[in-house]
Amino acid sequence: MTLAPTFDTSKLPPISDGLEGIVVAETVLSDVQGAAGRLTLRGKSVEELAETGSFDSAVEHLTRDLLPTSAPAQVSLAEGRSLAWEQIGVLRAADPDLSAFEMMTIGLAALPSSAAGENSLMLAGALSVFLAGGYRLKAGLEPIAPDATAETAADLLRMLTGSVPPAAHVAGLNRYLTTVLDHGLNASTFAARVIASTNANAKAGLLGAMGALSGPLHGGAPGPVLDMLDAAQNSGNVRAWIGGELRAGRRLMGFGHRVYRTRDPRADVLKTGLAALSKDSGRVALAEEIEREALSALALHKPERKLDTNVEFYTAVLLEAIGIDRSLFTPLFAVGRAPGWCAHMAEQQAKGRLIRPQSRYVGP
Ligand code: ACO
Repeated sequence: MTLAPTFDTSKLPPISDGLEGIVVAETVLSDVQGAAGRLTLRGKSVEELAETGSFDSAVEHLTRDLLPTSAPAQVSLAEGRSLAWEQIGVLRAADPDLSAFEMMTIGLAALPSSAAGENSLMLAGALSVFLAGGYRLKAGLEPIAPDATAETAADLLRMLTGSVPPAAHVAGLNRYLTTVLDHGLNASTFAARVIASTNANAKAGLLGAMGALSGPLHGGAPGPVLDMLDAAQNSGNVRAWIGGELRAGRRLMGFGHRVYRTRDPRADVLKTGLAALSKDSGRVALAEEIEREALSALALHKPERKLDTNVEFYTAVLLEAIGIDRSLFTPLFAVGRAPGWCAHMAEQQAKGRLIRPQSRYVGP
């Protein structure tokens, strides 16, 4: 006996796996040109933004007049850090075996929903304190209070290490955070917009976006990039090691992208920043060798699919050169992307339409 479908499936449009090629929103925030390898954030190229200002000024540029606050972004982010500091006690009670990323979500979840009012950027700013405080508590160290007069990158590094960070490290972190600030309708931003479309509050949207970001196909890749560099180096034969990985059906972390069919422009923004930072030229040379070998192996492995370097590859090398532990790479990605999520959620709520696609039933 064949069961009749409950409605006429032939009238549904064809499925696009992974929503590839489906446009579901208009945005003024960022434009990802996949074929040309160009990224524009509210009219400015990512290269210009990352070269000419701090992360806080890039957030100001991206969010100006879009959020229901007249406070400058730097002030909102700093107020968020002060707010988080009032709640740092919840991290003391957390299991120290939780990851730094999980610690951040606990801190964010514990913030009173009303504390930031309409100013979601304060929630984004709070993440730095939970990142640094959670990391220090896990290491058996006391968290360090934020400095409301500082900008995000400098304050974050100081809260992590306990000392005034070198200017080159601050510049490197500003460059990284700016580079990942916004990137079209990536998985975590889409998750944030879906949640915002239900009129849930910004904290719920940020927590949902962080969940989406945490996966290795999205923001979880840069830590494994360093693991890959180590494994390739220890193997003594980079080319053979890469070939073995691909033959075993494993993906090379830091390569491939859903939208870019050429080099991710952010990879070069980060690579350029590395020049001012890395004293370990051997490590950079190793990264370059692995990149070269990976690209030629991938060209043979998937000739029909242009797989090129993505943002995560040089993220890993740059953050390592700043001295940041690899367990913090994904949490840092959340710090950089969170203001972008806030702006997208505001845009979505201004649109006022619930996101609710359909599925095609193929069950019994
Ligand atoms: N290494 C080896 N093979 C790869 C890689 C890779 N890095 N990326 C894609 N492929 C292969 C896939 O296995 C697939 O092969 P198949 O057709 O035989 O199954 C083919 O290329 C097409 O890949 P898709 O999965 O369709 O590509 P998709 O657009 O879904 O994925 C993604 C993009 C997730 C980034 C993928 O390239 C990947 O897994 N890369 C490694 C992880 C990574 O670097 N993530 C960070 C992404 S950047 C960011 O989120 C900020």
